[in-house]
Amino acid sequence: MSTTPAENETGTSTDDQVREYYHRILPFYETELKDRGDADLWAWAASEPAGCRVLEIGAGTGRATRFLARTAGRVVAFDLSLETIAVARRRFAEQPHVSFLVADLRILQLAERFDLIAAVDDPFVHLTADEDRERAFARVAEHLAPDGRFLLDAAWLSPERRHTAEEGGLVEDREEEGGLSVREVWRCDAGSRLCTTGFEYRVDGRLEAKASFPSRLWSLVEIEARCRAAGLEITRLWGDYDRRPWDRATSSRLIAEMRRERQVGAPVMASC
Ligand SMILES: C[S@@+](CC[C@H](N)C(=O)[O-])C[C@H]1O[C@@H](n2cnc3c(N)ncnc32)[C@H](O)[C@@H]1O
Repeated sequence: MSTTPAENETGTSTDDQVREYYHRILPFYETELKDRGDADLWAWAASEPAGCRVLEIGAGTGRATRFLARTAGRVVAFDLSLETIAVARRRFAEQPHVSFLVADLRILQLAERFDLIAAVDDPFVHLTADEDRERAFARVAEHLAPDGRFLLDAAWLSPERRHTAEEGGLVEDREEEGGLSVREVWRCDAGSRLCTTGFEYRVDGRLEAKASFPSRLWSLVEIEARCRAAGLEITRLWGDYDRRPWDRATSSRLIAEMRRERQVGAPVMASC
């Protein structure tokens, strides 16, 4: 197995911004995502085939690795941030079927192939340049087993929320446990889907952390184009973690399942 640590290969300011962002919000990150509601989806996804080999992209602190690891035979999880991976490694020290790497999605090169590649809470949101997304999709396609699936929980806004993000800014306030309140703000450019995403964390009303990052939303058209370029195809679209069908107008999320493009006339493989 070989991989190139991001620090040595792409020490660009954009990557440093991503690490700095997660450094700042780390104390609040898991509390904020506690009720995300995605646990069953990821445990289900990793449950087939038996002994499912999972590659988790942008695993952060291992929040969702826990769900994948419940049913998977093996999980290899990686992230650009050494700091978040250190947290994840401590957490999974007693689970030999889970391993972690510090690596960059755009240059990942492992010898192993995977039945499931999972992009949980969209790490691609940080890749704002076309060439970065293209490279990342190519790496995903390379690491998929012949009948493997790639699941992307895409950074996507419904037309109504996107319109708000493009007009004055989409502002969402949430109350979490322990007196934590979170403000999430998306300000987006209409044509490019390039945004600035900001988070503020307050505990009992006192501002504890504030950070933002450049982001890029997905459109279905872009996912389709990235798939074509990487030799993948969309096989299912869900509108939420309960796997209801996706509807552009009414869905709150966009979760895409992708597989290797089937050649015309090729037999349909058993799904895993
Ligand atoms: C929104 S967080 C999601 C973390 C985790 N999947 C979860 O659901 O809790 C996105 C993660 O993607 C990582 N990331 C961003 N760019 C990356 C890249 N080029 N390669 C690997 N990881 C990256 C970030 O460091 C961050 O941990």
